Amino acid sequence: MRVLVTGGSGSLGSEVLAELGARGHEARPASRRTGVDLSTGVGLAEVVAGVDAVIHCATATQSPRRVDVDGTGRLVAELARQPSPPHLVYVSIVGCDRSPFPYYRAKTEVEQRLARWGGPATVVRATQFHPFAAAVAQLLMVGRVAFSIGDMAVQPADTAWVAGHLVDVATGPVPRGFTRTTDLAGPDVLAMGEVAMMLRQHAGQGSPRVVRVPPVGGVLRSFSDRVNVPSGDVETGGRSFAAWLETQPQRLPSLRR
Ligand SMILES: NC(=O)c1ccc[n+]([C@@H]2O[C@H](COP(=O)([O-])OP(=O)(O)OC[C@H]3O[C@@H](n4cnc5c(N)ncnc54)[C@H](OP(=O)(O)O)[C@@H]3O)[C@@H](O)[C@H]2O)c1
Repeated sequence: MRVLVTGGSGSLGSEVLAELGARGHEARPASRRTGVDLSTGVGLAEVVAGVDAVIHCATATQSPRRVDVDGTGRLVAELARQPSPPHLVYVSIVGCDRSPFPYYRAKTEVEQRLARWGGPATVVRATQFHPFAAAVAQLLMVGRVAFSIGDMAVQPADTAWVAGHLVDVATGPVPRGFTRTTDLAGPDVLAMGEVAMMLRQHAGQGSPRVVRVPPVGGVLRSFSDRVNVPSGDVETGGRSFAAWLETQPQRLPSLRR
């Protein structure tokens, strides 16, 4: 199959490209690096022509309205112009509809837009990927103090495992209209203090001192309520956070600028 991968240069997109290649499919990456800009529509018509499916991984956490919401609108308009609209597979986030976090609101809006489209579209929600969970835990650490915002936790997933699922969906049966799969998550639920402990041990440091701070405001309250941890039907699998961490350098990249 010929599969378009938006955000093919990103963490998830690059794993999707590798998986498609390993399974013998023709993968077509699309992002600004390949001359396709979802925020303007430049290059979209050319890259969409003739594809059988789209795995939509492009995102911009700092400008989700321009890229995720309006950009998906541009992508869908282009797909609708094709003689037979290809199956669009969209990766979203577990619990995005249960938090006022602006990025999550944008993800929810994209899901709703796809539901209204009427063409073949599948939403696959996943939990935080291992590198992101590690980066958030690092952000919440100052020296050996690890701050835990209320009961915040993660159930992080292996990026390659999620990529494999997206490829299964994109190369499988095409739905008649909109559908959503079972949510995807990694095998373990970890409180942020536990993540901090694992990171410090990995770095050869002593145990952190976990300081619990109350969640202030709707966004932090929603994460303290663990909206990002699946509560209903969920498919778990892939490498655990501990197994992923073993493959990482002692000093992990940080989200702190
Ligand atoms: N990271 C997580 O923990 C996690 C968990 C669950 C779900 N997800 C979802 O998975 C998807 C991929 O996330 P990720 O972590 O792989 O993101 P990422 O590493 O930040 O990659 C984002 C991609 O989007 C592309 N992009 C940005 N602006 C663009 C634009 N204007 N036009 C076209 N492409 C653009 C970037 O490439 P260029 O710079 O070349 O444009 C890059 O390839 C997102 O939808 C995210 O919400 C992520």
